[in-house]
Amino acid sequence: MCGIISIKGKNAIRKTISGLKKLEYRGYDSCGIAWKNKKLNIKKSKGYISILEEKVKNIKSELTIGHTRWATHGVPSELNSHPHVSMDGKFMCVHNGIIENYKELKKQFLQGYEFYSDTDTEVIPNLVSKFYKDLVNCNPSCCNRRRNSKYSGECYGSKCKCASYCDDILTAFKMAIDQLKGSFAIVLINDYNDKIYFARHSSPMVISKTKDMIICSDINGLDDKSNTFYLPDDTYGVLDNDFEVFDTNSKPIAIKYSNYKGGIENKLSGYKHYMLKEIYEIPNAIELTKDALYGASLTLPKNISQILFVSCGTSYHASLMAKKYIENFAHIPCECVIASEFISSNNLILPNTLGVFISQSGETADTLKSLEKAKSQGVYTLAITNVQNSHITLIADTTVLMRAGAEICVASTKAYTTQLFVLLQLTNYLIGLQQGNFRIISEKIQSKKQDKVSEGEISKANTCVGATELVEVLSKQDCLGISSDDIANLTGLDISTIDKQLDNLVDKIYLHKQFHLIGKDYDYITAMEGSLKIKEISYIFTDAYPCGELKHGTLSLIDENSIVFVIMTERDLIAKTTNAIHEITSRGGNVVCITQFDDIDLSDCYYVIHLPKLNQLFMPIVSIIPFHLISYKITTKLGLNPDKPRNLAKSVTVE
Ligand code: M6R
Repeated sequence: MCGIISIKGKNAIRKTISGLKKLEYRGYDSCGIAWKNKKLNIKKSKGYISILEEKVKNIKSELTIGHTRWATHGVPSELNSHPHVSMDGKFMCVHNGIIENYKELKKQFLQGYEFYSDTDTEVIPNLVSKFYKDLVNCNPSCCNRRRNSKYSGECYGSKCKCASYCDDILTAFKMAIDQLKGSFAIVLINDYNDKIYFARHSSPMVISKTKDMIICSDINGLDDKSNTFYLPDDTYGVLDNDFEVFDTNSKPIAIKYSNYKGGIENKLSGYKHYMLKEIYEIPNAIELTKDALYGASLTLPKNISQILFVSCGTSYHASLMAKKYIENFAHIPCECVIASEFISSNNLILPNTLGVFISQSGETADTLKSLEKAKSQGVYTLAITNVQNSHITLIADTTVLMRAGAEICVASTKAYTTQLFVLLQLTNYLIGLQQGNFRIISEKIQSKKQDKVSEGEISKANTCVGATELVEVLSKQDCLGISSDDIANLTGLDISTIDKQLDNLVDKIYLHKQFHLIGKDYDYITAMEGSLKIKEISYIFTDAYPCGELKHGTLSLIDENSIVFVIMTERDLIAKTTNAIHEITSRGGNVVCITQFDDIDLSDCYYVIHLPKLNQLFMPIVSIIPFHLISYKITTKLGLNPDKPRNLAKSVTVE
């Protein structure tokens, strides 16, 4: 988590603050900036970047490191916020990730050092400082290390023969990072020279070379996204007017730039909050995604035996919905695993498994780590993400992009609904694949029609478990019974028809301390996602169950103060769902029913929210929208900021 931006260039402080604001979606509980004007300086703040901005507004510098934090070790406070400083004040650094062995490092190398914060990060500048001093004092053991390093040479302390070409700080920095266990993206400046030192392990960073030199935790922090270099994992380096990057053996790495156009639209466009704006953008987000997907082809392995979905949070709920779509209509068995669990369990991977990794941001550490793990086990991997050029797209075998546009609010709304739309299209493709509606890529290559595919894709196919052939699925036709009118009804959905039903309800319930949500089949997954949405931003306790589970425990909580949301969008399940409603109302509980059916008796309910009637396959997309709006309305009524809930961040880049 956390955002890093470091700049060497004119007006670096102003540009760093502007970059940090763009990175606030990665964490926003505290922030800080260090800069050099002959001497090192530092300012920090608890809370939003705007507070820090005030503190540095008239200062000029051409060398900075900046950080916006999401606390892992130590409470959000000025002391714990980055940059962190070595005890001698000579080194300052910012860090994303977690140093797991920081206590051991303090004992092993930093006895007698004083630490002012509760963070794991503070060991880093101190280790660099210690190793640097060891090097310049020419401790014999350091000479050995130095001989083994890229900057080897005989060491004679301050009279060192190699002084003209050897960068002791880079050597000390490398010695420090070699000691770190965990994950990190680190940027460090120092009192001795005007260079910036950086390193990464399992935590992304990009370098941009335009008129300024910038290091950033992701491209969203950059104004000019041309000429960016994605730092490969397990590398380190140094930046001055240009930069050099090395692998862990200190071998130089070739620099390859990418050009990326587009980025976060940071405009509220008249809405009070991004969340509301993004809910209202749902129909348009789906329309843009549909336009990009229709007519596109997708490269997948032939003969898929199983689909393994791995993701987190809302994206995990989307995968649960996909399992239902695919098992019901494409008849391929699916398994959905939460990414953090996938990393730490032994998963049985069947031959011919397709791995699908869903991530709105494309930067979620748990999902990225899982993808790497699955790939190492020979799984062919498909990423579904909303962010072009995000890290997931760089490591997955193939990618489908959603076109939801930037989602800035921490709570995912339009991205979730767009994910569901993409997953329905994936189901369509998979049916097409079974119907033989595909072209074998090797044939395409042999016939020299190599437009979109490369030999690399064939060799990729050969490394995947059992997937000896990759195919291009050409299914453009509808295999799911969705007509163009159905699509037009979805993309023309008027959110305000749902919105205007909710104010009366919210006025009555916003002070409640807990809500229950229930549903059956697809509606149970909507209950889970609705529950996450309410608790995430309003801090009200919620839980979600299948209707049939109530009587196995939760019913004991139901009394005349209870509010239970019941989602009912499947006609075949009306009888069973209304049974659950009776179980609740007969114990005095208050049912808020969400349904498109107007031919059933819901007079027992406390409140009914009427959904528009769309193609049944689209009902999961529509039935979540009342929960988006209810969460938003409750949260704003409680005086909370729906866009930036406490303790959370938009992009969870730590495991
Ligand atoms: O960017 P991702 O889809 O990988 O993010 C996964 C979760 O962190 C995310 O969906 C989270 O649960 C949302 N904030 C929920 O609204």
